[in-house]
Amino acid sequence: MLFKQQAWLRQKLLVLGSLAVGSLLYLVARVGSLDRVQPICPIEGRFGARSQAEFPLRALQFKRGLLHEFRKGNTSKEQVRLHDLVQQLPKAIIIGVRKGGTRALLEMLNLHPAVVKASQEIHFFDNDENYAKGIEWYRKKMPFSYPQQITIEKSPAYFITEEVPERIYKMNSSIKLLIIVREPTTRAISDYTQVLEGKERKNKTYYKFEKLAIDPNTCEVNTKYKAVRTSIYTKHLERWLKYFPIEQFHIVDGDRLITEPLPELQLVEKFLNLPPRISQYNLYFNATRGFYCLRFNIIFNKCLAGSKGRIHPEVDPSVITKLRKFFHPFNQKFYQITGRTLNWP
Ligand code: A3P
Repeated sequence: MLFKQQAWLRQKLLVLGSLAVGSLLYLVARVGSLDRVQPICPIEGRFGARSQAEFPLRALQFKRGLLHEFRKGNTSKEQVRLHDLVQQLPKAIIIGVRKGGTRALLEMLNLHPAVVKASQEIHFFDNDENYAKGIEWYRKKMPFSYPQQITIEKSPAYFITEEVPERIYKMNSSIKLLIIVREPTTRAISDYTQVLEGKERKNKTYYKFEKLAIDPNTCEVNTKYKAVRTSIYTKHLERWLKYFPIEQFHIVDGDRLITEPLPELQLVEKFLNLPPRISQYNLYFNATRGFYCLRFNIIFNKCLAGSKGRIHPEVDPSVITKLRKFFHPFNQKFYQITGRTLNWP
């Protein structure tokens, strides 16, 4: 009798369990496919106006699925053909600035269903050896995407490399260019911190930031120091402006992207003529990391690697003041040229 009751109970539990698992799976599939059942995602402007019916809105989770597998090389040519996938040259490039938040910007834009990111920094335009391989080599480095999607790559070295503006212009004179900047002194310290970490990893010693940033002979800011030079944004931008009109650039406030990413991303969506699709749901603050992380759907979320968001060494306040004073006129010029005032000290 007892045995019969136990068997009956086990059977009941099994049925209930399967029901619960089934419902959960349904819920997951349903939420994951919500984007797909929403009607259409129009892309207008430079990327070519399309009729609404032409643009199938891809689910965010889909990007984590098939396209992700393609990126890893896990899918066949047949599947590429079947899904009408192509490797497209970028329609927008994050050209810099190093340590401005270029990775965060790329990853966050990739939340948009119409954007596909090139995961690696390609270094096509700044590296002569790569550039000599030709544009087809570059295109083949791009991820698979649907023809209606736009590909974005980021290589921060582009911003400061002499030859790059002309080379990009030759590829596409109407390309959209994104520059993410941070307060110049903070950016320089972040740049230094990255190099310092590399040295420490190799058990090498390195100079203090103060020693590199200030010329010991003149006690003035050392403009030969690369981390300082990179932060003179206006100097680099002026070289770009010989090839592209200012309307083709969009300045992203990297400091605001850290604390308040959504409004910055919405400005980029607008600049790229994309329908607003990134929402607060896609970004959540992770107190342990101290940064916003990305949520694709109820299953997939991710934070940036630990190499993003390093603790900076303490820097002598008088050096910080000197650097800020040094950057000030260049910043004013930068605001004037770009039309974006960032209220840096
Ligand atoms: P720090 O390491 O100085 O904090 P890049 O990707 O261009 O190398 O920029 C790195 C910077 O991105 C980091 O600099 C960090 O502050 C910033 N960042 C912006 N948003 C971030 C995010 N959500 N997660 C981690 N780092 C972020």
